[in-house]
Amino acid sequence: MAKRALITGITGQDGAYLTKLLYEKGYEVYGLLARRSTDTLWRLRFLDVLDKIELIDGDMTDVSSLVRVMHKAKPDEVYNLAAQSFVYTSWYQPILTGQVTALGVTNLLEAIRQTNKEARFYQASTSEMFGLIQETVQDENTSFYPRSPYGVAKLYGHWITINYRESFDMFCCSGLLFNHESPVRGIEFVTRKVTDAAARIKHGKQKELRLGNIDAKRDWGFAGDYVEAMWLMLQHDKPEDFVIATGTTTTVRDMCRIAFEYLDMNYEDYVVIDKKFYRPAEVDELLGNPAKAKKLLNWEPKTDLQQLIHMMVDADMVRVSKE
Ligand code: NAP
Ligand code: GDD
Repeated sequence: MAKRALITGITGQDGAYLTKLLYEKGYEVYGLLARRSTDTLWRLRFLDVLDKIELIDGDMTDVSSLVRVMHKAKPDEVYNLAAQSFVYTSWYQPILTGQVTALGVTNLLEAIRQTNKEARFYQASTSEMFGLIQETVQDENTSFYPRSPYGVAKLYGHWITINYRESFDMFCCSGLLFNHESPVRGIEFVTRKVTDAAARIKHGKQKELRLGNIDAKRDWGFAGDYVEAMWLMLQHDKPEDFVIATGTTTTVRDMCRIAFEYLDMNYEDYVVIDKKFYRPAEVDELLGNPAKAKKLLNWEPKTDLQQLIHMMVDADMVRVSKE
């Protein structure tokens, strides 16, 4: 019998890559689809998986819909990827961020507990919880210090996941994933903003690129590699939390350089610093140690930053040329 998986946040970057992975592994894939007035299915189309899955209406803030979705999907595995995930927006919509990104996790855990507590649960935790870093290299034992309403909400989601594991003997795991990107990354995130702008400038459709703090450092990996780690966590013999990262950190400035150089341009000729994109509190630096995932899950990143940025620029060049 094929295994059944339910993915919340299926229309997001990770949702699309995870759908592709699970479909290729023979799963029946169900997705929670929030009602929107515009098309949110473009990523599932881009990865050619839209017609291979079943989408069920519901919202993370509406527990009755989550119970209905659980009854309908009858999943063996639940991947909770839904969130208000843009850090910048979390200062301007802190309550919505808390309702979806924090309490939404409890809504889903309750729906699982009340319908089928044997289902395995994955929570999308984040390196943003490390925030004002307490150790130069962050791993599963590093203390948290979130710096944004998003980071605070995710920390709640992280601890409620651990609490349900310890209270109700449920198979609940958290993946502490560092930044991961792809050609279907949302345009508001810095890597995609840069690769899209580089492609537009190359095509003569844009003149400059306005950015905020380009001295921030991130440990960037490829989303396609990272969704495999999510799946591996739920195949492991016991529920645990894992850091997923590359172990390399790079400034936004150097990431820009990689993108522009690939198109034979110098980023310094186009990047304009704009205070509008600075944040009320910044996460200056993130660098993860994925040794536990390597040891227990045999997981390793396959794509380095240069390959990733080139892949994203290539995709944006094609998109821009078709406009
Ligand atoms: P994303 O592209 O922003 O996708 C977010 C998903 O959540 C979308 O499918 C969105 O649906 C859905 N969603 C938002 N509010 C919802 C609601 N009220 N009810 C139901 N669905 C809702 O995020 P991502 O980059 O794929 O990340 C996936 C998860 O991993 C998120 O939880 C994120 O916080 C976490 N994470 C991401 C990274 C990273 O670097 N990408 C790192 C660590 C952790 P619509 O399309 O309808 O808006
Ligand atoms: N978005 C954006 N836009 N970021 C900019 C800009 C800009 O114009 N200029 C500089 N930055 C800097 C931000 O200040 C931040 O330090 C860094 O680029 C990365 O910003 P984002 O790409 O927006 O990602 P993030 O690190 O804030 O959050 C992402 O990664 C988290 C994991 O660490 C998101 O995917 C979160 O959902 C995820 O949890």
